[in-house]
Amino acid sequence: MIEKTLVLLKPDAVQRGLMGRIISRFEDAGFKVIGAKMVWMDKEFGKKHYFDVAERRGEQVLKVLLEFMTRGPVMAMCVEGINAVENVRKMVGSTEPKSAQPGTIRGDFAHVSYGYADNNGIGIKNLIHASGNVEEAKQEVGLWFKDEELHSYKTVHEIHIRE
Ligand code: CDP
Ligand code: MG
Repeated sequence: MIEKTLVLLKPDAVQRGLMGRIISRFEDAGFKVIGAKMVWMDKEFGKKHYFDVAERRGEQVLKVLLEFMTRGPVMAMCVEGINAVENVRKMVGSTEPKSAQPGTIRGDFAHVSYGYADNNGIGIKNLIHASGNVEEAKQEVGLWFKDEELHSYKTVHEIHIRE
């Protein structure tokens, strides 16, 4: 039930100065950041991370997505908690900011639509990536972090939850 998930604060979140506010949301909910680093990835690595996007969404989406994701550094984090994969996705909100509910990160910090992005040949700047399911989380955490980059420590939330 305690899971690890991969979170990326995308170049738009970094450049808009939203890292702290987004990380605070996870800390406020009691999640534990057990690994973090800033990475300016290249398109080769981007293709490994988004290996199924061309198949699911088409080559054009992968192309604009890789342009967007390599425009600046991302903050990569491994986040741990109870049902972390599902819980973090809930806080992130749906892929299209226009459809993302208020209260979610994508709903609160962006509003762009698929229609606007696709018509203009640009990626959807939706601030954050989070692993979509438990299997994807295992694969993505392994891609982004070595074992020794993940840390084991206790937070006050764990005391609160267990007693
Ligand atoms: O990120 P999420 O798992 O919600 O969605 P995805 O289907 O795995 O797509 C990966 C990313 O592709 C999205 O987060 C968007 O940034 C991007 N995308 C895009 O730029 N244009 C689209 N029409 C669809 C997705
Ligand atoms: Mg995805």
